[in-house]
Amino acid sequence: MIHQKRRTALLEQLDDGAVVIVSTNPEQLRNGDVHYPFRPHSDFWYLTGFTEPQAIAVFSKDTYTIFLRDKDPAREIWDGKRLGISGAPQALKADEAYAIDDIKHKLPLLIADATTLYYDFKPCALDDEIIEILAKTNYQSLATYAHEMRLIKDKSEVKLMQKAADISVAAHQLAMQKTQADLFEFEVASIFDAEFRKNNTEHAYTPIVAGGENACVLHYIENNKVLNDGDLLLIDAGCEVQGYASDITRTFPVNGVFSKAQRQVYQIVLDAQLAAIESIKPSVMVVKPHQIATQVIQQGLIDLGILQADGDLSQFYMHGTGHYLGLDVHDVGAYQKNKQHRQYEAGMVTTVEPGIYIRKDDKINPIYWGIGIRIEDDVLITDNGNKVLTEALVKEIDDIESLMREK
Ligand code: GLY
Ligand code: MN
Ligand code: MN
Repeated sequence: MIHQKRRTALLEQLDDGAVVIVSTNPEQLRNGDVHYPFRPHSDFWYLTGFTEPQAIAVFSKDTYTIFLRDKDPAREIWDGKRLGISGAPQALKADEAYAIDDIKHKLPLLIADATTLYYDFKPCALDDEIIEILAKTNYQSLATYAHEMRLIKDKSEVKLMQKAADISVAAHQLAMQKTQADLFEFEVASIFDAEFRKNNTEHAYTPIVAGGENACVLHYIENNKVLNDGDLLLIDAGCEVQGYASDITRTFPVNGVFSKAQRQVYQIVLDAQLAAIESIKPSVMVVKPHQIATQVIQQGLIDLGILQADGDLSQFYMHGTGHYLGLDVHDVGAYQKNKQHRQYEAGMVTTVEPGIYIRKDDKINPIYWGIGIRIEDDVLITDNGNKVLTEALVKEIDDIESLMREK
């Protein structure tokens, strides 16, 4: 039902003769006959709720047609059950369903009276022959409209995101309690694999489990080194529930106790994060949390003698402070409108994830070398302010140390 409502809401924004065409992701070969696990394209999933590969939806104010794989008893023995043509109209609330290969013959009819077509070239289940058919009618990008809708989450979406957040929070808690020196990063990573699978969820992105200076590699995914006593461990991991992502980072000491230098740097990142979150509410510019976090980090690093007053902050903090979160981890939706930063609105979800990364540098006191810290939470914008979906996960220094004592 929710998908039908979304299709209607989308069409209401378009001209009367609009026809929307949206395809799911192509399957990806990993090696030999082995495919990566299939994950539908987020726009297609959002508008249809259909999670099988090889499908294209075509809809207008008058009719909704779905093209999909038909049932095939021989293939289903290998790959599992398919919805098939006969089951599709009822299950997907479609007026018509046809085999995916029929699209070349049917599409010209479906778009014959269209004033404008709305589609995108990616994901590219639309082959050249289809593109040639489409090229005869006015075209606009579907993303412009679908992504603005996806940016504002409804109650059912928030519920799924809260569930994803809760499962990820529990996994992070367990990882903090199980971490000790001499474990390998992949052993800690396996806690997330197990917790996510136990809850019938998937990783929303490749997790980062980075001990010591590995945390200074922003997209460290090797996760294969040993954890050293005295080092910090940065974990960026989150699951997705029915496609909706959580995205959490915590950084904590491998041996359960922050050193003085780690404590100093950690507190700057935490102060930056708390101040940035505090600023988030409707009508505030989406760039505001980044401005605030940057100021706090810059001043903190100057106070510690790590950064010169006229120094380059990007040496230590080189990424943004957050991104929209939803069906994609780096979710869709514009950050600017008419070349101006846009404002937060209730129903948006953003991450807030400042960090400090200090590489070996003779100009810096060696006690700080190799410290990489990021703290990331998921924040829902509400009518009056915000709600941190991941707030149950500890991040104050004392709270982390006390949780880690509860082995
Ligand atoms: N986990 C990806 C990110 O934090 O953006
Ligand atoms: Mn993130
Ligand atoms: Mn992250």
